[in-house]
Order: sequence, then structure tokens, then C-alpha cells
Amino acid sequence: MKIRILFVALFCCACLFVQAQRTESLLEKGWTFIKDDVPGAQDPNFNDSRWQQVTIPHDWAIYGPFSRNYDLQEVTITQNMEKKATIKTGRTGGLPYVGIGWYRQTFDVNGGITDKSVTLQFDGAMSEAQVYVNGKKACFWPYGYNSFFCDVTPLLNADGKKNILAVRLENKPQSSRWYSGAGLYRNVHLIVTNHTHIPVWGTYITTPHVGTDFSTVCLKTEVANMDEKKDVTIKTQIFNPKGKLVIEKTTTVWNNSSIQNFILKAPQLWSPETPCLYLAKTTLYQNNKQIDEYHTTFGIRSIEVVTEKGFFLNGRSYKIKGVCNHHDLGPLGAAVNSSAIRHRLMLLKNMGCNAIRTAHNMPSPELIQLCNKMGFLVMAESFDEWDVAKCKNGYHRYFKDWAEKDLVNLIHHYRNDPCIVMWSIGNEVPTQCSKQGYQVAGFLQNICHREDITRPVVCCMDQVDCVLKNGFAAQLDVPGFNYRVSRYKEAYSKLPQGFLLGSETSSTVSSRGVYHFPVVKKADVLNADHQCSSYDLNYCSWSNVPDEDLEMSEYFNWDMGQFVWSGFDYLGEPSPYDTDAWPNHSSMFGIIDLASLPKDRYYLYRSIWNKNVKTLHVLPHWTWPGREGKVTPVFVYTNYPIVELFVNGVSQGKLIKTYKNPQTHYRLMWKNVIYHPGTLKVVAYTDEGKVVETKIVRTAGKPYRLLLSTDRTTLQANGKDLAFVTASIVDKEGNICPKAKNLVKFSVSGAGSYRASANGDPTCLYAFQNPEMPAFSGKLMVLVQSSEQSGPIQLNVTSKGLKGALMKFFSK
Ligand code: GAL
Repeated sequence: MKIRILFVALFCCACLFVQAQRTESLLEKGWTFIKDDVPGAQDPNFNDSRWQQVTIPHDWAIYGPFSRNYDLQEVTITQNMEKKATIKTGRTGGLPYVGIGWYRQTFDVNGGITDKSVTLQFDGAMSEAQVYVNGKKACFWPYGYNSFFCDVTPLLNADGKKNILAVRLENKPQSSRWYSGAGLYRNVHLIVTNHTHIPVWGTYITTPHVGTDFSTVCLKTEVANMDEKKDVTIKTQIFNPKGKLVIEKTTTVWNNSSIQNFILKAPQLWSPETPCLYLAKTTLYQNNKQIDEYHTTFGIRSIEVVTEKGFFLNGRSYKIKGVCNHHDLGPLGAAVNSSAIRHRLMLLKNMGCNAIRTAHNMPSPELIQLCNKMGFLVMAESFDEWDVAKCKNGYHRYFKDWAEKDLVNLIHHYRNDPCIVMWSIGNEVPTQCSKQGYQVAGFLQNICHREDITRPVVCCMDQVDCVLKNGFAAQLDVPGFNYRVSRYKEAYSKLPQGFLLGSETSSTVSSRGVYHFPVVKKADVLNADHQCSSYDLNYCSWSNVPDEDLEMSEYFNWDMGQFVWSGFDYLGEPSPYDTDAWPNHSSMFGIIDLASLPKDRYYLYRSIWNKNVKTLHVLPHWTWPGREGKVTPVFVYTNYPIVELFVNGVSQGKLIKTYKNPQTHYRLMWKNVIYHPGTLKVVAYTDEGKVVETKIVRTAGKPYRLLLSTDRTTLQANGKDLAFVTASIVDKEGNICPKAKNLVKFSVSGAGSYRASANGDPTCLYAFQNPEMPAFSGKLMVLVQSSEQSGPIQLNVTSKGLKGALMKFFSK
């Protein structure tokens, strides 16, 4: 629920929007950048005229090119049960994220700063950020995922001269297990206030009593640089989700802080299904003169973890149907973009997903704001490493001095956000098996409790034997288990809490639209094409198929639910093709691929998780030249009770969803279907035998033309809004050609531009930013970006030998 200032036109960059006593602007445009270590680059007189001009958020590594040789890591991944070191390729995406980069920018503080306080806030800078203002060191923050701020008031030019901001960032080799991105990949804010003001993250809202008849709200506000000799008061007005003022209160500030309590009658409670947001507008007065105004968005909801019963939201049992996601946005890399995040969340919402785990680090504010608004529970995670290394140059180098500061910033930044329901102190940290490991966990959990009394703390553990024996798991508010679903019952019975969370589950691997034969459930399957089969039966040595976690979570109340690994494919960690198996450079764990195209598994989860839509999804495709007469199993993911399958009009039998039998509960499988080209038809029936839906998949002919589809043709003219356009290659009759790989080219004219494209193929080495991309399994995604001008935009898509397509948009 953040805060701060409703700056209406915050999007427009590098210009300040003056609200009475506080201005906040994003420093987006006009940066210069160099990927190099340049001694003296912080010097105000340094000549950077030959540096590249960039706009942030900016990820210097996403432009590629991909290479096997970037960040080769010779490692033994013990979490993956490896016993000896091997060369890992593509582990960090095969992209040039390692190295040093400098950014420079000038900024103006409205004609003199003598009576103003000036703060720079970084939402995240990858990594080891050294910030200089006018040549002097302003701050240092090593962890690339965390937000931090520095008071730069004493460093500013008092003579009205422009100020020079310089930021040095460094990514060491072997510092990550996935693609971290590089550079100023999140926003930088310039905040100008009066000397006495409400500092960054200076409010803390809790709702001690939550009820539908009334709820209470407690707001604590800090005041920085308060002059004790002056009379300082705070007025807070609370607005309901419709924007109506419902209550207000004025109190005196004592000792730099104030507490205000409110009763709200008949409040609208926040939940993923009803994401109602309130606003607290806090105005600060000094000797009756208004000196600051600060906005905090919040929600009213209660969370509990109840022994034997699991997770409760607003007094009711609530199952977590979540996914884990890394922060990268596929072809955009790590550069944050609200429009891309919204698009992802919409896909997840439609799947019935209600929760996100921010694996394995602090989220961007854009993600959190959207989760508040769109309704997702969030488990905000902090670390993938504590004091014991996973990566040679990982966070363990900083843990001792920085862990507390990092946790405090995470919690202060997001503790007003209703979407956040748990703090995670770590993921599969090797420390869980060390003798004093429980002490480290206790230390971190205590910090969370000290900074936020309202949320439980979880640690995501994979070493079941250790943590059940050494007291590590027993002391946690919420014991989170990664995989090992077969040991949940044992863990539940041995631990004192009386519930547990599937903090990371499944890790099934698949490539969209690719199917391998024979169809067998198996771990660590390697294929000559470097892809994984979309029959959703392949996984890794430590993981399992989705059905097992779905079953556990469905039948046991004490299982709070799960976070599936992973919602989306991400750059890096191309298991099971991670051991010198270049060109694989991205993961295959996603329910949705790197291009944001859903894989078959999407419909498996949707059929269980989303009760509001009917799902009838059939796989595989039915274009198998060369497989004539061969066994080609057909699976259906559905929430209809009965389905009948026909091949070329011949019934292959009806299958019934048999609850309480995991073999037939989650998927219907016709295992002995013989392939003959033609039509595959599935007919869904009600329990009473009435036909309710039919789906037909036809054998496709030759690629003939391109077909475009999108969920939005009206964009905001803000220079960053995106349309995600799916391009499919179809035959003359409009059937998707499921093996088409044609090279597709894009051009955009009018008030927008081509932004990126992707096809979801984890072995494809085409750069996302070049306006051409081969299709993968007959499809790809192209991203069109608005400019700051309103007007029509046109996307033209062509491919040699195919009929092209165009799509029109309007930006306003
Ligand atoms: C887990 C780990 C994740 C990812 C996943 C792949 O052990 O927490 O970061 O590596 O395995 O299955």
C-alpha cells in the first residue's frame, strides 16, 4: 500500500511536479551510460559526451548477444543433489550481465536547496551500487534487489548549478544462480521536501481489529528533523475505495512520531477476490502552517495461520494457489515495466492463481502495487544465501554486515501493502544444515517480528532430514517445504506448528508445443532437440509432476497451499540442460513460457484452480507426419466431469473425472490412441450426460499466412505501455501449424515502436530486440510500445513465403 504522493503525472520524466511542500519525480530520461570501469567518472567535470544515451529502467545485459562463454560456472549444485562439479552453461542466461557499468545524470532542485531536504530513492540497482553526487560519495548498497535511499542534501550545489549524479554498478562473475539483469533496472526517484518532513517509508499502518461491522486502523507516522520548539501536528484523512472521505483526525507529534487510531464502520475488506484499497492522506503542520503531505495506500484484511487448519484470510480458511516467479520479464530482461507485469498477472489471474512468491529476493514496487490492485497474496522473499555460499560471489559476502539492513528496508518499504501476507527470510539456504543454523534463522525472524508485528515469517527449506532434527524448522512461524511432497505428512506430525506450506513445488519441465514419445513419467529426461515434452510428465531429480502437489493441497487443511515453481519461464537455469548443453539459456519450469505464451500445464492448473471458467483443453496437436499408425496418447485438462474423445469421428471412449483418485482426478488420459491425420474431437458432458462443450483440433496443412491476436489495441501514450501481440502461423483453413519455425519480421509505424519479441524456445539465440524472430511451435510474441504522442500505431508482420498481417492500435 504505498504511500507517497499521488503524483498524477509521475510518468513524465525528469521534470518535477510541485505539490504544496513536496515534489517527487522519476529520473528516467537523459542518462548517459558506459559498460566499463572508468576512473573518475564520478567527477562533475568528467566528459561523458561519448557515452550511450539511455532511459531507465535499463538492463545493460538483455541486448546480448547470447554466448556460451558468459559466466561459465564450474559448480556442484548440491541442492540439485549433484556430487561433483561440472561446467554449467546458460546458468545466468548466457547474457553479458557480468562487469562494471557507470550511469550519469544531471538534476536540478528547483533553484536552490537551502531550506529543502533532498533524497534519492533507488527501487533497485544491480548491483553493489556506489552513488555519487557532485563527485562526493552519497551511499553504497550492495544487494541489487533491494530498495534504498540516501539523503543527498549536504552534497548539493547551493548556487543553483545543476547537480551531477553518478552511479557505479558491478556484477561479479558467479554471483547468481539465474539471470539477475544489470544496471539501473528499476526506477530512481528524486524527492524534495521541507527540512521537517515525513521520511521515506515513514508511515506504518496496521489494522488491529478486522471485522465487517467495524475495523480499527492504527497509523504510526515518523517526522524527520522536527523542531521541538515548534508546535507540530498531523492531520490524517482516510478515504474509502470509492475515494470518499470517511474519517479524519488531528494529533500532536511528540518525539518525532505520532500514533493515530481510527474506527472504520462497515469497511470493505481486501482479498484477492475483492482488492479494495483505502488511502490515508497525512498532512503535517508546523505552527499551523502545512509543511508536508504524504499518502499511504492500505487495505483492511486479517491473516492467521491456524493449527491443523492452515491459512486464514479475513477469518476464513483460504488455500494458497500460488506461483514462484523470478523478477525478469523475459524479452525485457530485468528492466521493470508495469504494463508487462500487469499482462503477466492477468494471465495468472485467469489461471486461478491467487498468490506470488517473489523468488528469491525483494520485489519491485510496481509488482507490489499491481498485486494490491489486482488481488494477489504475496510472499516477499529476501535471500537465496545467508552466511554459507551457494555462488562463489553471492550474497554470503555481505550477509554479516547487511542482512539486517536489507530486511529492514524490505519490511519498511512494503509493510503497508495488504497483498503481502508473509515475509520469507530465505530459500534453501545451506545454513539450514549447519549446527548454528537455527540461530541465524532466529536472528532474521526476530528482525521481521520487530519491524512488523502483523505477518508470519517463513523459511523455504529443502533439507528435510536436517531441519526436522536440528530445530531449524520448529522455530519458524511457518515451515515452508520445497518439493519432497511425500514427506509433508511426516513433517506435519513431527513439527509443533500444526501446518506447513508448500513453499516451492512441482518443477515440472516442458517446452510449449513440443511432445516426445513414448510418453512416460520420468525425471531428468534429456532429448536430442534440447526440449522437454509438454505431456507434463517430466521433472528433475528433486521434483515431481503437478498432480502430487495438487492432491496434497486439496485434501489436507494443514497444507496451507503451494507456490509452484514457476509461473513463468525465466532467463537462466536451463535444467535439465544446464550441464554444458548450450544453446539452452532459459528455464523450462514455467507454466507459461518466456514469451508469455501459456503451455499446456496452464490449463491443468486452471482446471483445478479457477472454478469460474470452464476449461476443456486437449493435447497434443494433431499434425504428426510420420507417426501414422503409431500410439499417440491424448490428454485432456478439464473441469467438466465427463469427456469423450473422437479420432476422425470414431469414439475412443468416455472418461470420467474420478475424485479421490489422483490418476483420473487431475487429467483425463487416453493412452493408446493411434495417430491418423484428420480431426481430434473432445466432447464434454454434464453429469447427466448433456453435451456442454466441444473442441476440435485438426491436422494442419502447409504454413500459409500469419494471424495476429492481442488483448488490447488501446494504449496509454506514456512511452512505456505495451501491447502483447501473438503471431501464429496458420494454414489456408486457419489451423495453427504446430511445427512452423518461419522467420517473422516486424515493423511498427505511427505513435509507437517495436519493443521486443520472443518465441519461448529456450535454445533460440536471436536477440529479443532485433525486429525478427523465428516462430516456435507455430507461434511467437511481439511487443509494441507506445510513444509519448497520442495517435494511431500500426504493426506489420511479414514472413517470406507467407501472407503477412497487420494490426492497428491507438495510443491516447
Ligand atoms: C529449487 C530452487 C529454485 C530453482 C528450482 C528449480 O531448489 O529453490 O531457485 O532452482 O529448484 O527446480
